Amino acid sequence: MSRSAEFIVTASIPEVRQAVATARVNGCTIGCVPTMGALHAGHMSLVEECRKRTDYVVATIFVNPSQFAPQEDLTKYPRPLERDLQLCREAGVNLVFVPEVPALYPPGFQSWVTVEEVTKPLEGLFRATHFRGVATIVLKLFNIVQPDVLCFGAKDYQQQTMIRRMVRDLDLPVEIVVCPTVREPDGLAMSSRNVYLSSQERASALALSRALQLGQDRLEAGERDLSRLVAEMRSVLTVHPKITVDYVSLSDPDTLIELTEPQAEMVALIAARVGPTRLIDNRVLRISM
Ligand code: PAJ
Repeated sequence: MSRSAEFIVTASIPEVRQAVATARVNGCTIGCVPTMGALHAGHMSLVEECRKRTDYVVATIFVNPSQFAPQEDLTKYPRPLERDLQLCREAGVNLVFVPEVPALYPPGFQSWVTVEEVTKPLEGLFRATHFRGVATIVLKLFNIVQPDVLCFGAKDYQQQTMIRRMVRDLDLPVEIVVCPTVREPDGLAMSSRNVYLSSQERASALALSRALQLGQDRLEAGERDLSRLVAEMRSVLTVHPKITVDYVSLSDPDTLIELTEPQAEMVALIAARVGPTRLIDNRVLRISM
């Protein structure tokens, strides 16, 4: 069957199930790209990859309250829905699922998914219930859409690590595809939260990708002392008065356990607040051993 040309926007779970079932009867494979909207080129790269791999693409737009802590930006999270729908239509998405909160969290909701070890360090230390919220909503969206393929971005490194772990641990019949981080021309990782940055903060925010680049450069120049390397990366951030570092870490790419000794592949992860806006970025660093 050739790819479907339909474009459906719905908030209804039964309607999603019906449309996907029909696409399947017509011989389509199903892909899904979960998002919280405020779509940018990073999100659209996932849609593009999903379209390459499957015949019928579902995008979900849902600002998931359970992954925000009370003091976080849930209420002010950008929600440019009309623009998002237009982008989805132009990108060849077949169905956009835009549920309301009560449809996904009905009164009395009390079932949560917890992925344990990989969610404890890094983001887990700063956002205690965040990954429980993400794992739960991703499993729910998987159960609603029942896709063959789910696409995620490498930008949220710990998130994709957790989801791959959940899929293995819970035997979910789905392929997880992780797409590279899309960056602005100057290196800033695209994020829906970048719209919060003032022009001065936007300039300071470049320090995140610069620190990651410095990490790779120093390794290539022969640096093997990881604590010195982390300190150098940190100082790229802390010279900016508007930046507060949450963490700079060199970790094992699979377990996310912090490394004290160098290994062939490591992931450098950064979280920092630039003014009031919290940004994360990461980069896999490689050395020949
Ligand atoms: P959101 O931040 O909207 O991101 C949706 C997807 O886009 C995630 O897989 C994320 O890693 C990816 N993404 C974001 N910025 C990217 C970039 N610059 N390059 C490549 N991919 C990028 O992540 C979430 O929403 C939520 O936690 C969600 C998984 C939807 C669950 O609510």
